[in-house]
Amino acid sequence: MPFYQRIEVDDNTALFVWKITESYNDLFREVSLKDTSLARLEGMKSESHQKGFLAVRMLLQYNGYSDFDLYYDEFGKPHLNDGVNISISHSFGFSVIILSNKNIGIDLELRRDLVKKIAYKFAEEKFVYEYENNSSEFISMLTVIWGIKEAVFKVRNEIGISFKDHIFVRPFQMNEKKTTALLDFNALKSEFLVYFTEIENYTLVWLWETES
Ligand SMILES: CC(C)(COP(=O)(O)OP(=O)(O)OC[C@H]1O[C@@H](n2cnc3c(N)ncnc32)[C@H](O)[C@@H]1OP(=O)(O)O)[C@@H](O)C(=O)NCCC(=O)NCCS
Repeated sequence: MPFYQRIEVDDNTALFVWKITESYNDLFREVSLKDTSLARLEGMKSESHQKGFLAVRMLLQYNGYSDFDLYYDEFGKPHLNDGVNISISHSFGFSVIILSNKNIGIDLELRRDLVKKIAYKFAEEKFVYEYENNSSEFISMLTVIWGIKEAVFKVRNEIGISFKDHIFVRPFQMNEKKTTALLDFNALKSEFLVYFTEIENYTLVWLWETES
């Protein structure tokens, strides 16, 4: 089952989810790729990564674009030739893209126990202490926080941003499905409006800057 879901965020923003059930060859047959993309694909070490990359191209084609409309800047941030903003994420079984007139960020993460072990590296201590012992939602919550920080980084990818020291997430409940975040880095202070949801055992986060 390839195309999985469209989420209408607002009049000018929508996100698209592809569930990867096809074989590599089936996906490869369906997409047209630039030479540079072909070279990148061939250089990827895992088939899972290759399928994620191809599924992103399927989502582009679903939206009337192709790999030929997509280019990357020197930081690795993707752009579309027509100026529509795009953000991309893939994680094992799913690929997602978001298209908008705003500079948006998206992140998809598989929820794993591992996130508890590395929480001290990226989450504010208040989150770790408050939820550590009590909550079956601990992994869900930490995965949202992780996704938020990845997505903020995709919007404002200044060199030197630290997830723990510069990106702060306002406390939230899982059932609220939204929160805000602050990037406080050097002279730059930016607020982000954040939405999140869960798809199977994955967490999907999308956000954009509201003020700076
Ligand atoms: C770039 C980064 C955000 C990618 O996130 P990820 O969760 O590893 O992978 P995802 O699948 O969600 O996203 C990958 C996509 O992000 C996009 N991307 C890569 N670099 C980007 C950048 N600088 N800005 C915006 N988007 C970027 C690309 O589209 C890429 O997919 P593609 O190359 O196949 O098109 C991440 O690897 C990173 O460097 N994070 C910052 C470093 C950091 O502080 N890490 C953790 C410290 S605790």
